Amino acid sequence: MKLRVDLDKPYDIEINAGSINCLNRYLKENYKNSKILLVSDDLVFNIHKEKILKELDGFFYKTYILKNGESSKNTENLIEMLEFAAKNEYRRSDLVLAFGGGVVGDITGLFSNLYLRGLDFIAIPTTFLSAIDSSVGGKTAVNLKEGKNLCGTFYQPKKVFIDTDFLKTLSDYTFNDGLAEAIKYAMIRDKSLLKKLMQEKIDKNYENLPLVIKSCLDIKREVVREDEKDLGIRQILNYGHTFGHAIEKKSNFKIGHGHAVALGMLIMVKYFNEDFYNDFLKLLEKYGLYDNIDFNTEEILKLCMVDKKSRKDRITIIAVKEIGSCELIEIGLKDLRKIYENRQDYN
Ligand SMILES: NC(=O)c1ccc[n+]([C@@H]2O[C@H](COP(=O)([O-])OP(=O)(O)OC[C@H]3O[C@@H](n4cnc5c(N)ncnc54)[C@H](O)[C@@H]3O)[C@@H](O)[C@H]2O)c1
Repeated sequence: MKLRVDLDKPYDIEINAGSINCLNRYLKENYKNSKILLVSDDLVFNIHKEKILKELDGFFYKTYILKNGESSKNTENLIEMLEFAAKNEYRRSDLVLAFGGGVVGDITGLFSNLYLRGLDFIAIPTTFLSAIDSSVGGKTAVNLKEGKNLCGTFYQPKKVFIDTDFLKTLSDYTFNDGLAEAIKYAMIRDKSLLKKLMQEKIDKNYENLPLVIKSCLDIKREVVREDEKDLGIRQILNYGHTFGHAIEKKSNFKIGHGHAVALGMLIMVKYFNEDFYNDFLKLLEKYGLYDNIDFNTEEILKLCMVDKKSRKDRITIIAVKEIGSCELIEIGLKDLRKIYENRQDYN
């Protein structure tokens, strides 16, 4: 299955079980004389080394392996990667492969954009989250000590290969982290996807996973096309993220991003879609996304207001009043408090 991302610089996404088996042919057709730099993390590379290296048959390549986890997305590693490429005389016509989850994708995208002012890169996302989120939109980043994703650019890959077979080795927790974003897409733009998520049990072995991924990417592709540089409508992709980010931070990142966003969406549903609340709670429980934790109102509100979406004492939130569509609303601290305090009934 192929999906075209029609941005300023269009590219295709291949989504299938086994799509990686076409990589070697694609490289021979498009990058015959290029040297390849394969970037991955230790966990992904150890599990899937044989499969990915087989696709590099006939090419000169080097590997750059990061330690797995968010803490690798830092400026020190970025500089080290740049110096590694320079030392090994990578040139403008060479190619970078980002093989891993969102961490590998984000830092490798930024590296590819910066090295020699831009090298082609191909993304091979290996988590559900990176497949349905990072592979469209071209956001690249590393974290600074002062915060997440503070240093980054917009830079599109030349091609994306999503091979759902890679996802089969994910832990359930990591898979479900991505599933929360699928629920988000469904809530803001796709009622039928929500129905599917509610009626079926989608896991890493789900036969029609490529179709679910395509539905999610279709939504992201449309939203990003309207607002490539994230200046307006693209904010709707942050549904559930205002409280989600605050919960994630408050938990010292012990709660995964998707799990925190799920709780953020639950708070929004409680306020805006009271009738749907019980069904939504069941949905989260089914996917292991509900956690009966609670954080102090003042602390959460403070974290919400320092989030980059807030200006002075106003904040833009995404409200789903009708399932499958949404709107941006600017509210003040008083209303934000009302929404958060309304959650307390479920504790
Ligand atoms: N650029 C974007 O548009 C965008 C969108 C969403 C998230 N992100 C970023 O992505 C990051 C989160 O991504 P993530 O959840 O993929 O995290 P991640 O890359 O840290 O991967 C999570 C864990 O899963 C492991 N893993 C990856 N693939 C695996 C596989 N196939 N089998 C077994 N284990 C595997 C990794 O080694 C890691 O330990 C964050 O830094 C976030 O800011 C970027």
